[in-house]
Amino acid sequence: MRRGNGFTYNTMVLLIVVLQYCGFLAHAVLNPVDFLALQSIRKSLADLPGSNYFSSWDFTSDPCSFAGLYCDGDRVVALNLGDPQAGSPGLTGRLHPAIGRLSALAELTLVPGRVVGSLPHSLSQLKYLRFLALSRNFISGVIPAGLGQLRGLTTLDLSFNQLAGNIPLSVGALPALSNVILSHNRLNGSIPAFVSQSLARLDLKHNNLSGWLPPPPGLPPSIQYLSLSSNRLSGPVDRALSPLNRLNYIDLSMNQFTGFIPVNLFASSITNLQLQRNQFSGPVQPVNPVTTPTVDLSYNRLWGEISPMFSTVQNLYLNNNRFTGQVPATLVDRLLDSSIQTLYLQHNYLSGIEINPTVEIPLSSSLCLQYNCMVLPVQTPCPLKAGSAKSRPTSQCIEWKG
Ligand SMILES: *[C@@H]1O[C@H](CO)[C@@H](O)[C@H](O)[C@H]1NC(C)=O
Ligand SMILES: *[C@@H]1O[C@H](CO)[C@@H](O)[C@H](O)[C@H]1NC(C)=O
Repeated sequence: MRRGNGFTYNTMVLLIVVLQYCGFLAHAVLNPVDFLALQSIRKSLADLPGSNYFSSWDFTSDPCSFAGLYCDGDRVVALNLGDPQAGSPGLTGRLHPAIGRLSALAELTLVPGRVVGSLPHSLSQLKYLRFLALSRNFISGVIPAGLGQLRGLTTLDLSFNQLAGNIPLSVGALPALSNVILSHNRLNGSIPAFVSQSLARLDLKHNNLSGWLPPPPGLPPSIQYLSLSSNRLSGPVDRALSPLNRLNYIDLSMNQFTGFIPVNLFASSITNLQLQRNQFSGPVQPVNPVTTPTVDLSYNRLWGEISPMFSTVQNLYLNNNRFTGQVPATLVDRLLDSSIQTLYLQHNYLSGIEINPTVEIPLSSSLCLQYNCMVLPVQTPCPLKAGSAKSRPTSQCIEWKG
């Protein structure tokens, strides 16, 4: 009589059990696409001698418990390849294109090691990727333009590899970037415009980049750290850099930049200012005392008198320029009371300094005055590079003044 109801009841129990099992599956067993992708990724990489990263990668157990792997439900969301412990020798092999099938991945990192080959184009399929850091390996080839599809990417660190070719325009167009670290590669071409209004760090040093800085708004005002050292960049910088009012670190050294140094680079918020070995010209007249601890303007074509606003700097390199006139008395005072540790003025056209010839320069301080248009009032130890000539030939000094 009650058979109908009993049947329904049993079916319901069974259904609940099946549903629970499915729920269990969904939460504890990795999605088969991710599982197969991980197997391919594993096969194309190996531990370098001394690294034990892959010892936990046993595919008879749940991959979500592997070292460096994090799941959310049945999907891999973070893959940190290699033992992150400092000094671990890292991995060898290649990045398998199957990485692109881990479609829920938000974070992909690789420890320093000897991974070779190119960046898989399939990385562009990782549409939830936010953090991509593959520095200090031997990755070659180009940066795939498809990375421009990773709309949520905030960190891109491919530094210390062997990447060549351009920085794709599409990468500059990524809207959420906050850290771009592509230093120490072989990148060439010009710097693309960066559109992200949250870009805080742009590090492109030691590449082969050329051309002018992108005109405003190509470098967003949010940039705090800017290093472009050791490239072949050229042209004036004032238009591109004047809008950057949150800078605290700037290194443009060893390029071929020309024109004036924008005055906002002497703002008090800047803790490091390296502009040496360019072709900057013009007088340098900061409006306020410069409190940046180290200011290096050496090896440029700067001229005019040295501003007393520099007397608040601790290490001041103005050597190998075309400065003229007297060294400001405040600079000398600050040197003698040890507030200035380095004052390099050699290889300019300076005509005098007011300093008592018998004064003791503090041992902690270095003053170099060699090769200027004056007779040296004190003996000071100079770097070897300053040469042995104490003064500039008089003929050059007369010519300069005339
Ligand atoms: C960049 O280098 C590649 C070779 O790696 C070359 O074909 C290309 O012309 C270079 N581009 C620029 C702008 O120098
Ligand atoms: C940089 O680019 C120039 C011109 O394209 C080329 O002659 C030079 O070899 C490159 N330097 C490096 C280190 O790749």
